[in-house]
Amino acid sequence: MSGLAAPIAARAAGDVMIEAYGVSKVFGSLRALDSVSLSARRGTVLGLLGHNGAGKTTLVNVLAAALPPSSGRAAVAGFDVTRDPREVRKRIGLTGQFASVDPQLSGRDNLVLLARLLGADRRSARARADELLELFGLQAFAARRPGTYSGGLRRRLDLAASLVGHPAVIFLDEPTTGLDPSSRIGLWEIVEDLVAGGTTVLLTTQYLDEADRLADSITVLSAGAVIASGTAAELKAQVGKRTVTVTPAPAAGPAVACAALRHAGLEPVPDRENGTVVVAIEASKDVAEVIRALDRAGVEATELSFREPSLDDVYLALAGRSAGAAS
Ligand SMILES: Nc1ncnc2c1ncn2[C@@H]1O[C@H](COP(=O)(O)OP(=O)(O)O)[C@@H](O)[C@H]1O
Ligand SMILES: [Mg+2]
Repeated sequence: MSGLAAPIAARAAGDVMIEAYGVSKVFGSLRALDSVSLSARRGTVLGLLGHNGAGKTTLVNVLAAALPPSSGRAAVAGFDVTRDPREVRKRIGLTGQFASVDPQLSGRDNLVLLARLLGADRRSARARADELLELFGLQAFAARRPGTYSGGLRRRLDLAASLVGHPAVIFLDEPTTGLDPSSRIGLWEIVEDLVAGGTTVLLTTQYLDEADRLADSITVLSAGAVIASGTAAELKAQVGKRTVTVTPAPAAGPAVACAALRHAGLEPVPDRENGTVVVAIEASKDVAEVIRALDRAGVEATELSFREPSLDDVYLALAGRSAGAAS
C-alpha cells in the first residue's frame, strides 16, 4: 500500500472514536462553543444538528485538529487533538461545504494527486483513484475537470477525495446543503455504505430528515451549547406529542365527539376550522382507547389519523425553550 494508511485499529477504549469533554471555543467576545461534550462509537453516525451559526463547523474544526479549543478536551480515534494533532489528521477525512479540489485538474488527477501527497507511489495512487471513482459512480466524469461537474457530482468527488487515505473517521459538514433530492439520497446511500464498512461519521446538518435517516445518535447544538442529545426516537419522546386526529361524521360533529372522548377520561381539543378533534395520547396503543370511546358513545368517524412527533417538533420545542431560557 506504500504510504496509504490501512484501516486503523482504534486505540480508543471501548471503540469510542470521537469524544469531546467540555469543549469551548472563544473568538474575541463570542463564545462559539460552550462546554460541548459528545461521543461516537466506531461504525456509527453522530448527527450534529443546528441552525446557521450554532457552532457546527467550529466543532468540526476542533475535532479535526484544525482549530485549538480554548478549553476542554477532545480526542479522535484515541488521539488527543491538542497533544497529537498530526496523529488525528492522519486518521480523518474532512469535507467542507465547498469542494476543496483543484479546478485545473481532472477528477481522476485530483484523486491521484491526493494519494501521492499522502505518500502513495504512482501505481497505488492510480489504483486508489480508480477504486474511488468506481465506488462513487464517477468513472464517466473522471477525465473532466470538476468545474464542469454538477453540484451533486462535485460533492461526490469532494467526499471521494476525503476518503483517499482510508480514514477511520470522516467529518461531513453539511454534505447535502444545496443538493437536489436525488443527489441527496445518493449521498445518504454512500454514507450508509461507509458506516456499514466500519467508518465512523460525524455529520453536521440543518436538516432534520437527514439526521433522522442517518444518525445513530443526535446532538442538538444551539448558540454553541448542547441543548439535547439522544437517538431520534429519544428526542421525539422527550418533547414531541403523539396525537390522534378524529374527523367525526357530520351527524355527530366535533362537539359530540369531544363529549364522548372527555367521558372516557381523554383530553380532546376541537379544531373548529377543520371540523376535527385532536387527542394527545401517551403511546401508539392508546389509539384503540380513542376508537373504543367513540364507539361506546355511538359516534361515527369518517377519518382517524395517528401522528408520531417529528424531529421538527423536537427542534422547534427545544430551540424555543433555550431561546426562552436565554432571554
Ligand atoms: N474564525 C472565526 N472568527 C470569529 N468568529 C467566528 C469564526 N468562526 C466562526 N465564528 C463565529 O462562530 C459562530 C459559530 O459559527 P460556525 O461554527 O461556523 O456555525 P455553523 O457551522 O453551525 O453555521 C458564528 O457566530 C460565527 O460567526
Ligand atoms: Mg457551518
